[in-house]
Formats: sequence, structure tokens, C-alpha cells
Amino acid sequence: MWKDFGFTKNLYDTHPISGNARGERLLVGRDKELKGLKNRITGFKTVTTIEGPNGVGKTSFVMVGGFQLENQSKGMGKSSILLLPEPFQLTLEDSALDFKRKVYAAIASHFIENEKTLRSQLDLQFGLSPLEAWLENPIFLNGSASAAGFSLGGGKAANESSGFDLHGFFALVDRLLKSAFDDEGGILCVVDNLEILNTSQVARQRLEELRDDLFAKHGIKWVVCGARGIVRSVASSQRLQGRLQEPIEITPLSADAIQDLVQTRVREFRLRDDAIPPVGPRSFNHAFHVLNENLRDTLKFCGDFSLWLSDSNQANHDEEILDELFEIWLADQSEAYMAAVNVPPRAWKLFDDICEQGGSISPSDHEEFGFNSSQNMRGQVQKLEQADLVVSELSDTDHRRKTVSVVAKGWLLRHHRSGYVKREE
Ligand SMILES: Nc1ncnc2c1ncn2[C@@H]1O[C@H](COP(=O)(O)OP(=O)(O)OP(=O)(O)O)[C@@H](O)[C@H]1O
Ligand SMILES: [Mg+2]
Repeated sequence: MWKDFGFTKNLYDTHPISGNARGERLLVGRDKELKGLKNRITGFKTVTTIEGPNGVGKTSFVMVGGFQLENQSKGMGKSSILLLPEPFQLTLEDSALDFKRKVYAAIASHFIENEKTLRSQLDLQFGLSPLEAWLENPIFLNGSASAAGFSLGGGKAANESSGFDLHGFFALVDRLLKSAFDDEGGILCVVDNLEILNTSQVARQRLEELRDDLFAKHGIKWVVCGARGIVRSVASSQRLQGRLQEPIEITPLSADAIQDLVQTRVREFRLRDDAIPPVGPRSFNHAFHVLNENLRDTLKFCGDFSLWLSDSNQANHDEEILDELFEIWLADQSEAYMAAVNVPPRAWKLFDDICEQGGSISPSDHEEFGFNSSQNMRGQVQKLEQADLVVSELSDTDHRRKTVSVVAKGWLLRHHRSGYVKREE
């Protein structure tokens, strides 16, 4: 369908931008932050951290930054920086050892897949075939490290009879890293979405477990990204202070950058010079503000609108008409949502108040919202949750505290309820 619009592919793909040459062209409005990121990675041995709201562009930013560092360090031999193209996540299920196994396997695979280039770039005098044997070992591939009875502490327990010793593999990768890099160089590993650990207490515990092992390894450089203040909160913990840097704040793109974003994608993906994007800069910016500056949600809506245009055979309008259609479509979407939700007046009042506050509140602030207990407020929050207008997430060190945040559908209804008045653009 994108060909009908005159483009090679989806202009509004919601996946993060990759760390490659095209990704570098697509990333707009982050020059200052990129400089800061690279200074932190190259100038310090501590873990670089990134903090920013959901869907703002953290993953894209760090992957492109890593790619630029890799490019700029070509020709620097063992001081080179390599980017591991897939970010890691710290999950609740994985132990520190599971995580280490994943990271080391990814590093080993990266070297094996790029052996020829890396051998000359890093003047690598290290045979990779023992690592290959490890990676092909079915026990290694399928087994969870903890299930196999290993601990980070050193001792190997189970599976000795099969000659399976994970620590042998770790030692081998350590030797590879030592022979590949000097003190300046390293492979850049990104831990993304730290907020999936839910509370900063858990996140802190997980990162502390890695502090003296993975985070201190010769030849590995770390970046940790997260949303909702979790990185900031963890970085200030006693045991991690001095090891985790102060986070780089990623804030929503400016109006100029949004304009640039659309134009850059048009240039990158157009099949002919006069191709007109289904959602041009004006409408994109409008949606971006309606959706509380969440770039991921904005792209999603732009994709949905494009699909609607295509389904209704309207791919060939000029920009002005498309802008008008977009506004009508957006209003129709919110009307359809509106007709389907059943929310009592008290909950609507709360919803409006949450939006006024910027979209996130804590139930412990119940008095501010006219409730005499957080229990009473909880009932109304549940109504909003059932209507998919907000989500509640655990936050902070205290398990009972939650954050209530408005989601995309909620912002669209907010737009409807405020009479489609345009938010400041
Ligand atoms: N600076 C940018 N220029 C152009 N497009 C961007 C930029 N930053 C992000 N995007 C686009 O916005 C979308 C969201 O970006 P990304 O996934 O990096 O955000 P995030 O903050 O990591 O989100 P999440 O909270 O979901 O992890 C992606 O589709 C990406 O292509
Ligand atoms: Mg992300």
C-alpha cells in the first residue's frame, strides 16, 4: 500500500530506529544529547544512563549514538568501540547468571559473525572456534543457567558429568575481550526498559548484583535506559553511586524536529519526487500534541490513518485535503471510542484532573483530587482502567505506591472532551 502513496515502506514504523547508516539519517533533533552520550561513554568507565518518558525516543537515540561511536572509532585499533546491535532487558525471571550468559553469548556471536572485519580492525590474535563450539552446544542453547545449577559465586554444581562448565565459557569470553580491546576500547552493551522490573527496589537489587562483575569488565561499556524515573532513582542508591552516571534526560522532540522527522522520512522512503506523505508535518505535529508528545503512539496513529486512507481509496489527495481528513479521522476515532466507554461522572472528573496534571498521578495524592481516602479514589481509577484510559503501575521503592498514567486512547478522549481545541503546538 505504501507504493500507492509513492513510498517504499511504512513511513510511520513504530519500531525503534536501528544503529546503522539509515538510522543515523532518520534520527532528528538529538545532536546535543548525542554529543553528551558519546562523551560519557568514551570519557568514563562508569555506566552511562538514560531516562525519559515512554515512547519519547530513548532506544533509537542510544542505538544511533552507539553506531556513531563505532564509526568514529574505526581505525583506532584496540581502542575501537563496537555496538552490540540488540539491546538487553533485565527481567524478573532471569537471575544475574542468566543475564551474564545472555550477554556473553551475544558478545561471542557478534565476534563470530563479524570475524573477518573485526580480526583486521582489532588486530585480533584469538581463535574463535572454542567459542563457536560453546554456542552450538545444545545444553548451552536450551538450558537456563540457574536451572543447570550454576551460581555467579563461582562453584559449578550440576551437569559436571556432561563436561558442561559455564565458567569455562565466561573465562574464554573474558580472554577474548582482553585480547580485543585496550583500556579505551570495548563493546557497547545496552540494557533497555529497566522499568519492566516495576520497582526501583528490584531494579537496584539487579544492578547491584552486576556492579562488581559485568559492570566492571574490561572491554564492555554499558548504557542503561529506563522510563518513569526508575533510572534516576537507582542511580542515587548508596551502592551504585559513583558507578552509575547521572542520567541523560531525553525530552520530547521540539516542533522543528517533528517537522524534520516527517521530511527526513519522506526523503528517505519516497519513490518519486512529488510523493505526498499521508500524514504531513502539520498533522503529525497535531497528533503528537494530542497524544501528549508520545512519539511511538503518534506514529501508530499515523499508520492507522494511512491504512484508512488506503482502504477507502483516498491515497491521492494533496497535502491540504489530507490535513483536513486527518483532523476529521482523529475526531471520528475519538467519537467511536467515546461511544464505547462507560465511565461515571466522578471518574471523568478524576480523568480530567489527571490530564491537567500532565497525565500521571499517584493515588497517595488523593486529597488533591477531592477524595477522602486513596481507597475511594482507587474505585474511580479502576473504572478508568476498565475503559482503557489509564494504566496503573507500581512505582518507587514502596510496593503500595502506584503511578496512574493516561494512555493513548485516554489522550484521544481528552481531545474530544476539550472540544477538539488544539493543544499548544
Ligand atoms: N529522534 C528521532 N527522530 C526520528 N524518529 C524518532 C526519534 N526518536 C524516536 N523516533 C521514533 O519514535 C518511535 C519511538 O522511539 P523509541 O522506541 O526509540 O522510543 P523509547 O523511548 O525507547 O520508547 P519505549 O518507552 O517504548 O521504550 C520509534 O518508532 C522511532 O522510530
Ligand atoms: Mg525503548
